Amino acid sequence: YGAAEPKVFKPEFKDYQAVYNEIAKLLQEHDEYDDGSYGPVLVRLAWHASGTYDKESGTGGSNGATMRFAPESQHGANAGLINARNFLEPVKAKFPWISYSDLWILGGVCSIQEMMGPKIPYRPGRADRDMSSCTPDGRLPDASQGPRHVRDIFYRMGFNDQEIVALAGAHALGRCHTQNSGFDGPWTFSPTVLTNDYYKLLLGSKWQWRKWDGPKQYEDKETKTLMMLPADMAFIEDKEFKKTVEKYAADNDVFFKDFSAVIVKLFELGVPYTEKSETFVFKNSDE
Ligand code: HEM
Repeated sequence: YGAAEPKVFKPEFKDYQAVYNEIAKLLQEHDEYDDGSYGPVLVRLAWHASGTYDKESGTGGSNGATMRFAPESQHGANAGLINARNFLEPVKAKFPWISYSDLWILGGVCSIQEMMGPKIPYRPGRADRDMSSCTPDGRLPDASQGPRHVRDIFYRMGFNDQEIVALAGAHALGRCHTQNSGFDGPWTFSPTVLTNDYYKLLLGSKWQWRKWDGPKQYEDKETKTLMMLPADMAFIEDKEFKKTVEKYAADNDVFFKDFSAVIVKLFELGVPYTEKSETFVFKNSDE
């Protein structure tokens, strides 16, 4: 009686923009990592958090951030993502009101925009779960396989062929690390800038098996510095996939538009939104 209701902090657009700005600042400061940016590994964290989704059972997806826990943190596919999770810890400490699950996705959104990609509309609303919600191993794609496996994995999440090819364009970013996946090298010459170069290179370069002790991967014949995984080759081996590769290789604007739409879908798989959920479009650090 008379006691004030406890004030619940309701974050608004400006609060999420502050988190975005903090991540963008740390990305700029920590240019010692890899090719000069944590951006690619942050995108990969957001994708692996989301890509465990199974539409039949409604399990997995970005809601939960269960990769904080073993066994999921130890799944082979997630090797190296500890670097991305650790990078975001100081952000979580500064903004303790944001869930890890929302933060990891915001990390992906910020990285894509800061690496000159399209705007990625963002909706918060994810809640962290405990280790009982960890997904079984084997839900993420196996890079040594071809079109059939790629379809099995992404159809399970609810994507169609065009959407699968649009998502794969993220491989313009980052690289493979022998200590993580066994594979080695970047897909493009500018792995910290998002472009449609992945598709251009798939179609425009000559690809040959790399002769080495590691797992079977392709190298470009001309410079031998770029790579493709067997699963990347699926997109030009398969006629249906290849049509979409050609579309995106020909027009970066079309790629950006479709990539933004499909990554929003990926990041929102299994998130229990209500009708009131708001969508935010963040300002880039240079705007
Ligand atoms: C990196 C496989 C789809 C984003 C990698 C790596 C592998 C891989 C083996 C190297 C990891 C390492 O050694 O550090 C695959 C396969 C896919 C797929 C088989 C599907 C057929 C995707 C999708 C996205 C994505 C859908 C995002 C939308 C990335 C990024 C990196 C990466 C940004 C670079 C990470 C870094 O530089 O640390 N992927 N991936 N991948 N993947 Fe994928």
